[in-house]
Amino acid sequence: MHDVHAAAGRWMSEIGVVARVDSAGNLIGSRASGNPNGKTLLIGSHLDTVPNAGKYDGILGFVIGIAVLKALKSVELPFAVDVIGFSEEEGVRFATPYLGSRAIAGDFDVSWLDLVDNQGKSMRSVIENFGLAADKISLAAYSPDRVLGFLEAHIEQGPVLARVDRAVAVVSDIAGQSRLRLRFQGSPGHAGTTPMTPRADALVAAARLIVSVSEFAQTIDGLRATVGFIKALPNVRNVIPGEVEVSLDIRHANDEVRNVATETLCELAKEHSEPHGVTVTVTDRQEQPASAMDKEMGEILTQSMSDSRVEPYSMLSGAGHDAVAMSQRFPSAMLFIRQPSGISHHPDEDVQQADVAVAIEVLANFVRRLAHQYTSTHSKN
Ligand code: HGY
Ligand code: MN
Ligand code: MN
Repeated sequence: MHDVHAAAGRWMSEIGVVARVDSAGNLIGSRASGNPNGKTLLIGSHLDTVPNAGKYDGILGFVIGIAVLKALKSVELPFAVDVIGFSEEEGVRFATPYLGSRAIAGDFDVSWLDLVDNQGKSMRSVIENFGLAADKISLAAYSPDRVLGFLEAHIEQGPVLARVDRAVAVVSDIAGQSRLRLRFQGSPGHAGTTPMTPRADALVAAARLIVSVSEFAQTIDGLRATVGFIKALPNVRNVIPGEVEVSLDIRHANDEVRNVATETLCELAKEHSEPHGVTVTVTDRQEQPASAMDKEMGEILTQSMSDSRVEPYSMLSGAGHDAVAMSQRFPSAMLFIRQPSGISHHPDEDVQQADVAVAIEVLANFVRRLAHQYTSTHSKN
């Protein structure tokens, strides 16, 4: 991340923007405004990603922010613009997402500093080792009365825009997420001497659940349920697994549907386990309600698409983004960019340069429109 900050810092200094790293590891490039009492428009996305990732998830939205500042270099703005490269949106290392954007939003929970990664290193020690002061994370927060809004460009991470042949889309809402960890506790035993029945095989119980997660999710319109992680102990060929951990990622635009689905799947886990002497416990559960994007900003984004002769289109985001954390505190809007492959969180992740150019133009139109609106409302006051 130090190398990313250095490279991105150079890109920003090339357009006369001073970059800094805040106490939560976010990289921030600030373009001051001539108006000392003006607010700040935040534009950006995350710099981290997932293992075996593609090249665009997160970072493209940050680079587009720099490109928008470059496009507006000679345009006088009545407000400042901060381009932010957030740290740790994915939540891979500490199983907790949106760390950087929660710090900017003032919602960083200091108890997270005691979370440990899979090598037992605490978040606090990792932050200190990076060269930041973990106890100063609260200083990263922007006060809502200073912020005009937050704007995030991001690849769609799905097949919709490719299917409807659109370059970009306004994001209407971001689906809610339930992120669980389930532990199946059975009885380990020798693979060769233990009769097939009765066996309390934790991996067989988990396998039954994994299949029913997929089958159940296909019965509910718009529901996404995924087991992405499994750990079997002791994970050797000649021992019946006594303990298995799986992740459960459940998403839907409607929180009630998601909550009912989560409870149903936890019940199903028990039904597939208890009759076979396997117990199931939920060892972690994080709920993120669905996030509505700001209607007024979404309207300006739609007009900004028309300015570039792009037919308006809006859609739900099934993926979470920093806008989930930012929209809790600041009016937020997102612009999706088409992915011909529709594949993300994988090296085949792709974009087309022409679509990225459209996104930059639409966001630059957005900033111009916002400046015009800002000037006309503030000149009346
Ligand atoms: O998991 C997600 O929805 C996003 O990629 N962080
Ligand atoms: Mn991602
Ligand atoms: Mn992302």
